[in-house]
Amino acid sequence: MSEPHIETPEELDRANERPVDEPAPSGSAPESRPTPEAAGDVLLEMDDVTLRFGGVVALDGVSFALRKGEIFGLIGPNGAGKTTCFNAMTGVYRPTSGAIRFQGQSIVGKKKHEITRSGIGRTFQNVRLFPEMTALENVMVGADAHFKTSVLGALFRLPRFWREEREGREKSLELLRFVGIEHRAGEVSRNLSYGEQRRLEIARALATNPTLLCLDEPAAGFNPAEKEDLLNLIRKIRDTGVTVLLIEHDMRLVMGVTDRIVVLEFGKKIAEGTPAEVRENPAVIAAYLGVPTDAA
Ligand SMILES: Nc1ncnc2c1ncn2[C@@H]1O[C@H](COP(=O)(O)OP(=O)(O)OP(=O)(O)O)[C@@H](O)[C@H]1O
Ligand SMILES: [Mg+2]
Repeated sequence: MSEPHIETPEELDRANERPVDEPAPSGSAPESRPTPEAAGDVLLEMDDVTLRFGGVVALDGVSFALRKGEIFGLIGPNGAGKTTCFNAMTGVYRPTSGAIRFQGQSIVGKKKHEITRSGIGRTFQNVRLFPEMTALENVMVGADAHFKTSVLGALFRLPRFWREEREGREKSLELLRFVGIEHRAGEVSRNLSYGEQRRLEIARALATNPTLLCLDEPAAGFNPAEKEDLLNLIRKIRDTGVTVLLIEHDMRLVMGVTDRIVVLEFGKKIAEGTPAEVRENPAVIAAYLGVPTDAA
């Protein structure tokens, strides 16, 4: 479970500058090619993805596919590889082997900002905001990903700069309203409550116009009422047409909101199915109870 933590701009910079891990042997990146599956309703495909950190196999031949418009749960005990999955999908780490396709195109080897622009937004397990910036400014940082103004255009304050600035501000306010914290727009983010900060992170991720939104334990540290509100927000996001991938430890929340679930344990996929199917799966029960499968 994560603790509330606001990163300083330096920490944030460091995190953003972290070099893509390079465990992959050369030639392992698959070329971009649409697959027959991608022509259907598959949005993102993990295809036999392995990711090693030295001797640790964080992902071990993991395959699953997200369909457009669904809320998809990614669950598993601590250290199972859930966050590593997000990091592989968003270009933080490069898989040692295997393919990841988004809308039919390989995204292995692409830079983080390219992946963001192509339509994958995410939040982080630990809150990462600019603590001295206002809530509105934090969201505008996300919206910036789509600005077209050149550096010179910004320096000389050309008309497009002002137009994009205004549009970014309006859109960001609308997103703060959407996640329910519009009244905090002018407050510096470190003064927001923990729950408001988590909502602000979601607003910032939505500002990048994602087709797929990946939420890493968005309800960690929430009380039951806050969890219920978050559940409604996730449904509202899906209703706008965004596909949602959710990492969450709270089983009630996961089972209540997802259409399908993949379960990881020690980097391996041990189950996939509807919430009802996964709940009954002996391997899943064993993984959560920490007992051998036959005992479960
Ligand atoms: N940058 C890294 N360097 C080395 N090992 C790592 C790194 N990131 C993750 N790991 C290891 O990979 C494994 C999977 O970690 P990951 O963070 O993906 O798990 P998780 O399922 O998100 O767990 P949690 O529920 O605790 O957040 C763990 O053994 C972890 O220690
Ligand atoms: Mg994690």
